Amino acid sequence: MEKTLKISKIRDGTVIDHISAGKALEVLNILGSNNGSISIGIRVNSKKMGLKDVLKIENVFLEKEDLDRIALIAPEATISIVKNYEIIEKFNVDMPEKIYGIVKCSNQNCITNANEPVKTEFIVDSRSPVTLRCLYCNRSMSGDEIIKNLI
Ligand code: CTP
Ligand code: ZN
Repeated sequence: MEKTLKISKIRDGTVIDHISAGKALEVLNILGSNNGSISIGIRVNSKKMGLKDVLKIENVFLEKEDLDRIALIAPEATISIVKNYEIIEKFNVDMPEKIYGIVKCSNQNCITNANEPVKTEFIVDSRSPVTLRCLYCNRSMSGDEIIKNLI
């Protein structure tokens, strides 16, 4: 008998793999609601990483904003797009140079927090660890401060 836990393959949808162990629920949280079935593996064995998390979301194909959110929480994640059981595309999430509209600025006095119709905009000053700088007020944000302010 196999001694490893297997999560079923999916027919159509998205696999978010190699999430650092323990972060899958954070990733799931920011993906918003969708109607597909979801399988979650938390702290499963991985040859590359020791332990990892994996999320499989059926019938959902992510948009750029979702991929950017994942890059902020789990920069090492890989995305596999599955159609009719085959992986048709596989890529690493990558940190964009700018982050638009998905993080709220932590400076309460920032124009982006004044109910004006402006989309937030941050430049990625450092990738590891991630530091974002608001292009409106210059406030720098990093670590949990970014995760807490994900929109
Ligand atoms: N997968 C899935 N359903 C499919 C095909 C693949 O859920 N129909 C999942 C696999 O379980 C795996 C991920 O998609 O978690 C990537 O699949 P694959 O490239 O075949 O696996 P590995 O070679 O193990 O990937 P890696 O080397 O990137 O760890
Ligand atoms: Zn700001």
